[in-house]
Amino acid sequence: MTKAVHPPEPFKIKMVEPLNIISEEQRKKALQDAGYNPFLLKSQNVYIDLLTDSGTGAMSDNQWAGIMLGDEAYAGSRNFYNICNAVKDIFNYNYVVPTHQGRGAEQVLFPLLVKQGQYVCSNFHFDTTKAHVELSGAIAKNFLIPEATDTATYHDFKGNFNIPALEAFIEEVGPENVAFFIMTVTNNSAGGQPVSMANMRELRRVADKYGKKIVIDSARFAENAMFIKKREAGYENASIKEIIREMFSYGDILTMSAKKDAIVNMGGMIAIKEDEEVFKGAQARCVPMEGFATYGGLSGRDMEALARGLYEGIQEDYLEYRLGQVKYLGDRLMEIGVPIQYPTGGHAVFVDAKKILPHIPGDQFPALSICNALYLASGVRAVEIGSFLLGRNPKTGKQEESPLELVRLTIPRRVYTQSHMDQIVEGFRKVMEQKDQLTGYTFDYEPPVLRHFLARLRPLDK
Ligand code: F0G
Repeated sequence: MTKAVHPPEPFKIKMVEPLNIISEEQRKKALQDAGYNPFLLKSQNVYIDLLTDSGTGAMSDNQWAGIMLGDEAYAGSRNFYNICNAVKDIFNYNYVVPTHQGRGAEQVLFPLLVKQGQYVCSNFHFDTTKAHVELSGAIAKNFLIPEATDTATYHDFKGNFNIPALEAFIEEVGPENVAFFIMTVTNNSAGGQPVSMANMRELRRVADKYGKKIVIDSARFAENAMFIKKREAGYENASIKEIIREMFSYGDILTMSAKKDAIVNMGGMIAIKEDEEVFKGAQARCVPMEGFATYGGLSGRDMEALARGLYEGIQEDYLEYRLGQVKYLGDRLMEIGVPIQYPTGGHAVFVDAKKILPHIPGDQFPALSICNALYLASGVRAVEIGSFLLGRNPKTGKQEESPLELVRLTIPRRVYTQSHMDQIVEGFRKVMEQKDQLTGYTFDYEPPVLRHFLARLRPLDK
């Protein structure tokens, strides 16, 4: 393996925010007070926060300057039209409905596209996406490729939609029982893994064959485009914008959490290529749920930061740095023997906890055990993506066993430096030294739905 290299940052630092470093004793107390659930830690007790890359990025001087140009009109704010122009230019979509974040877009859009009891098929539904599919009366089905669950083997596009499995499913249940398709780029739940252009084109072919619409869940659209440029033959000389335009030419509608690749702290949208009926329906639902159709829960200044962020997120030198930083962390962790989802994805390194703690069964949450050990060792907050997140079968009440028990180290955009990445690696070195002593967890308090956010736990005895 070649030595890990950290890419140069294509920016310099103009404003700093102090970090709070507390002692190991204080961290022990903080974790106990948080019921051994990292979601319940106060952020002031966290040194490096890798809980999510959502809304945690650093805005640029250009975005902050845009904040001062917010047009806070209730209707027809000029900042809304700046978003519309950026969307037309980058995605070539004609209509925009702004929303306060990604799940706002999902709740406004999905009921327009489904009939009760139909299936919605995706390469993988993000948690809130699945929740909104179900709230609108449909059933969410995921179609991952088998390579995605094999963490150790290289594949260029582990995020791909499993098209043969999708076609077989449509034939089995009948096309009239399928509402629409969701293509998630990058595929967050499979490890921030990209989807290839060929796979997006294939999905379009299937959608046309059965007369279905494609919604692109585009939270990390720019990272996906950069992976296509780096890995897919024929795209090495294309610009990021050209790649994005082709990707979205295969979709009909996009939903976006702008808190990721558009690098804002809050914001989202629905954009529609040409279907006026869906646009009018989405506008009509936006008004009572998110706000008037030209602000959708955002202030004018938020919309200006978003319009500018869309352009910053697609800069090639920035994306080179972004993917390079995540890869650097993954490579350094592999150097010290930490098993990860390989290759690294766009926004996070996913550590394979099952391989580190084979002695802890899924229902005692091995990945949570590593998150907590990492916090105690180094003040780094990570997040569990495994059986703790998955929860119980709603019908039987039995704990479901997740195929993967992962620790997600999610890297906020433009926030942390190489030495922070090295501190994370040092934290893992300590965790690996004590791995045989680590124990599983059990519940003190288990909320009935979305339990991972508010549950309280205790460590089991050895
Ligand atoms: N779709 C994807 C692929 C996401 O990753 C998220 C959020 C959403 C939709 C919902 O967007 O949070 O703006 O309402 N993902 C965050 C995460 C929360 O930590 O991965 P939202």
